[in-house]
Amino acid sequence: VKVEKDCRSVLRLSERYRAASLSVGLVPTMGALHAGHLSLIACARGECDRVVVSIFVNPTQFSPGEDLASYPRPLEADLEACRRSGVDLVFCGAAADLYPEGFQTWVNLEDLTKPLCGEHRPGHFRGVATVVTQLLSVVKPQRAYFGKKDYQQCLVVERLVRDLHIDTEVRLVETVREPDGLAMSSRNAFLGAKERQAAARLYRALMAARDAIEGGEDSVEKLVACMRRELVPGDDLHLDYAEARDAETLAAFADGRLPRRGNHVLLAVAARLGGVRLIDNIVVKV
Ligand code: PAF
Repeated sequence: VKVEKDCRSVLRLSERYRAASLSVGLVPTMGALHAGHLSLIACARGECDRVVVSIFVNPTQFSPGEDLASYPRPLEADLEACRRSGVDLVFCGAAADLYPEGFQTWVNLEDLTKPLCGEHRPGHFRGVATVVTQLLSVVKPQRAYFGKKDYQQCLVVERLVRDLHIDTEVRLVETVREPDGLAMSSRNAFLGAKERQAAARLYRALMAARDAIEGGEDSVEKLVACMRRELVPGDDLHLDYAEARDAETLAAFADGRLPRRGNHVLLAVAARLGGVRLIDNIVVKV
């Protein structure tokens, strides 16, 4: 597998791929690759002539006090995983290259970034939107692959690609889960035994709310209460949010009831276990 560190070299390579009419799939990551990433890579491998994985722990999407310094960076293992998965190019960006001295151009989205994680991680989506725009400008992929575990991020990326007329198809891929339902995340590695056990409660909360919807429950308040019952705060769990929102706009339901007009409802939860922040979601048709 080829490894490139600077944007210029990757730009040159992507121009070469284009000139040779080779389609490119980009899987943007922050490294610490797990089965979720591998499933994104497998999708890209199945649909594109060349697969590029970017590995960059993007400092601008971490708020002060978050886990930027301790975020896992197992580069050798990541490169080996890329090699085994048939990745053609790994783009290991450097902060000094992506954010050169004097950098002052940010990508800001309005309504989509206000609720849910936007409310709890100020500046997070500005960092995500900015770096994703940069990666798409440098790699110029025909397709870019994102995991649905980060549902709000998926909507943000779809929107910015549309708004900025970026010539890339955004492909969203199903969340990969552990046998007990816990969504794969690089941060799972930080969970102690007790927190790891408690982490399965996030998915249980989502399942409980989905069952309630399927049983006819329309009240958003009751659905939220249903999720919160699985996520009662204690020594091992601090709840950031449990919400039911319109899955396209992330807007709250005006009258506090699900409309049941064939649209989609996002059930989303975020909790901190020990020092580890986890998120999860499912989308239910109503
Ligand atoms: O989902 C991630 O790993 C990151 O938010 C992304 C998309 C690579 C941007 O840094």
